[in-house]
Amino acid sequence: MESPNKIAPPIKSYFSPELLKGQVAIVTGGSRGGMLKEIAQAYLQHGCKAIILMSRNAEKNGEVVKELSKFGTCHSEPGDVRKSEDCLRVARRAVELYGRIDILVNGAAGNFLASAAKLSTNGFRTVLEIDTIGTFNMSQAVFNTYFNTHGGVIINISAALHWAGSALQVHSGAAKAGVDTITKTLAVEWGPHKVRVVGIVPGAIEGTEGFERLGDLANMNNKEKSNQAFEKGDAKQAASGFKDSMVIAPINRFGVVQDIANAALYLASPMATYISGTNLVVDGASTLIFPNFLFSFPKFIEMWGQAKL
Ligand code: COA
Repeated sequence: MESPNKIAPPIKSYFSPELLKGQVAIVTGGSRGGMLKEIAQAYLQHGCKAIILMSRNAEKNGEVVKELSKFGTCHSEPGDVRKSEDCLRVARRAVELYGRIDILVNGAAGNFLASAAKLSTNGFRTVLEIDTIGTFNMSQAVFNTYFNTHGGVIINISAALHWAGSALQVHSGAAKAGVDTITKTLAVEWGPHKVRVVGIVPGAIEGTEGFERLGDLANMNNKEKSNQAFEKGDAKQAASGFKDSMVIAPINRFGVVQDIANAALYLASPMATYISGTNLVVDGASTLIFPNFLFSFPKFIEMWGQAKL
């Protein structure tokens, strides 16, 4: 008998639609779509009674919430994870509206390609504040509002940038190293309160803002152009050439947002109740062969060789 395909992108869910029945999740980030929107959608399709989507841009957040509302109750709560008062407001609002919080997905993150020599202190600080301080602020707010007495799951979106030296990513690598420390520390400190804290390390996931920005070497150090990368989809084009010419992962495909949503479903589910303080790597084993993905771009090798970073 032919073996079922174990590496094709997931096309449907095999999880029970009641996997997360009656649960309430807060998802930060996601106003630009991508993996966080997909996680929110998957949670609604698997029984969550409500999702609170939090991000800075009220308008975009509202648009995504409108789309997600096709799948269930989704509430837009604009706020900045860098501000502890915003985090506390959102956590309290979730309990006020829906009576509980079961899952927190810390997805809000900033990233762009910038050389360490040219990155401003404020650029470095901004990414650390969104990723690391934001993860801390939101986790603390949810813990003090609800998890301390009821338990829950925190899922932090991390990265593999800091496992090795990832050029042009000193800000994000430092930020995600901090996130991983938060995952481990809170898993230990809050385990006795029935709180699990886990992380997901995504590989190169098509259709995400990170994918566009991190493939956009031409606009390194350029805030305006880098901000347009997502809209223009330039990196996606560059990546498709790259995809044809090289193997990005032993599983020979880029990731899709459903890969990450499936991991987030599993980690939040009752099937993962003994998993805490660790990351689930969802990258088709790419980090094992590409510790620094930029070294597979000819343009980067050229710049690096000529020390133009
Ligand atoms: N290259 C170099 N520096 C950059 C930059 C870039 N592409 N984008 C922002 N910065 C710097 C700014 O110049 C500024 O520093 P300065 O005051 O010294 O000039 C600092 O970062 C803050 O920028 P600002 O635009 O004021 O901050 P913000 O609060 O609006 O946040 C980011 C900007 C970082 C969140 C946004 O640019 C970003 O990266 N969004 C991407 C989200 C994303 O891709 N998420 C997926 C992550 S994998």
